[in-house]
Amino acid sequence: MTKKRLSKALAGAGVASRRAAEELIFMGRVQVNGETVRVPQTLVDFASDRISVDGSLISKEQEKVYYMVNKPKGMICSNVRVGRRPIILDMFPHSNERLFTIGRLDRDTTGLLIVTNDGHFAQQVIHPSSNVIKEYLVKTVQEIEVKHLETLSEGARVDDKWVKPVSVRKVRRGTFKIAVKEGRKHEVRIIAERAKLDVVELTRIRIGGLLLGSLEEGSFRALTENDKKQIFSL
Ligand code: URA
Repeated sequence: MTKKRLSKALAGAGVASRRAAEELIFMGRVQVNGETVRVPQTLVDFASDRISVDGSLISKEQEKVYYMVNKPKGMICSNVRVGRRPIILDMFPHSNERLFTIGRLDRDTTGLLIVTNDGHFAQQVIHPSSNVIKEYLVKTVQEIEVKHLETLSEGARVDDKWVKPVSVRKVRRGTFKIAVKEGRKHEVRIIAERAKLDVVELTRIRIGGLLLGSLEEGSFRALTENDKKQIFSL
């Protein structure tokens, strides 16, 4: 009998990344043998324990699936519906897998997002030691000047941490590209705001070595093995 930590077991079963699984546990949404468990370190075994999330029984393994999505504006990266707003999972209405997004984009951000049911893979992509850089194309009201580029390059405080971009480059008049290592909420918007730039459009164009390319807004395709490798290739 192999016992595993509850958070690891949930990630392995494809419920969410390890970190997101911990959040589900803390929120009281996970039951083991009918009891709500709030400790991610609790040892469990799929062979002998009944594990459920939000009342649905979780089975040990699912076939792993991986998609890249060009997230449309207005869609929310959440597994839980709040109100009537469309969520990313609405793009996969016929899927039997428990899908989730790897990281999140703001409601008004478009671009590259990975959707999967593989919690371990998600953990690898997110984990800082993997050094997966994310690049964004940003359109602004103002023309980009040298002073803006200087301030953008310094970064900004996002929550409790100073985030410094890996690179910043002007593309044309009111458009720049920025690459960041962190995956913090609103980070690019906060960095732009510090440089006194008003963001009109924000699009993620790259995750590691995986490019958004010509995938149209609102569409998705399955990732190939090579695409998955590309993510860790830069
Ligand atoms: N940074 C942001 O500000 N927003 C996103 O959606 C992603 C990165």
